[in-house]
Amino acid sequence: LPLMAGVGFLSYLIGSIPFGLVLTALSGEGDIRQIGSGNIGATNVLRTGNRKLAAGTLVLDATKGAFAVFCAFVLCPFHTGAAEALAAACAVAGHCFPVWLKFKGGKGVATGLGSMIALSPAIGLCCCAVWLIFAKVTKISSAGALVAFAALPLLMIWPGHIPFSSPTYLSGVLIALLILARHHANITRIFTGTEPRIGQGGNQGG
Ligand code: G3P
Repeated sequence: LPLMAGVGFLSYLIGSIPFGLVLTALSGEGDIRQIGSGNIGATNVLRTGNRKLAAGTLVLDATKGAFAVFCAFVLCPFHTGAAEALAAACAVAGHCFPVWLKFKGGKGVATGLGSMIALSPAIGLCCCAVWLIFAKVTKISSAGALVAFAALPLLMIWPGHIPFSSPTYLSGVLIALLILARHHANITRIFTGTEPRIGQGGNQGG
């Protein structure tokens, strides 16, 4: 049990590194929290106009999710999937509620995709494909994320064949719920027709 608690805490810390904030500050673009939606994720970093910075944020935020799962795999000798599943959920929670930013973090999309890819490459990549397709069709990043993570519990059943009772399933559902909850302001904007398209300015307020 102490090992599991350690894995959870370590994963939280890995997830809590706000790459979007760090990269934009280091490249002289200012404080990402003062730009666009104020979010620290890749979609909002794109609103600085710097595509490389946005791509870097997406890759690093996803990689930290996968890295947390990898650390759990290395640290826990049992390989029942429980430690890896815990690591995935804690990494996403770390991104959403980082202690360094007074628990005001991001929305967990990139980190969720990265940790799901590490837990189950097939399901993670399916989720990623749904996100990309819907983001491209609607030109709204949050719409892609909402559809992809709403679909995740279904994707884990088919084509995933993940049993309901498995830690991976529970972790996937928790990650999906957290990401959907973090998008409440985006959901309101989508329904009021005010959610900005990819590359557009973006509204303040979440
Ligand atoms: O990755 C978060 C994305 O789904 C929405 O970001 O900045 O448009 O609120 P944003």
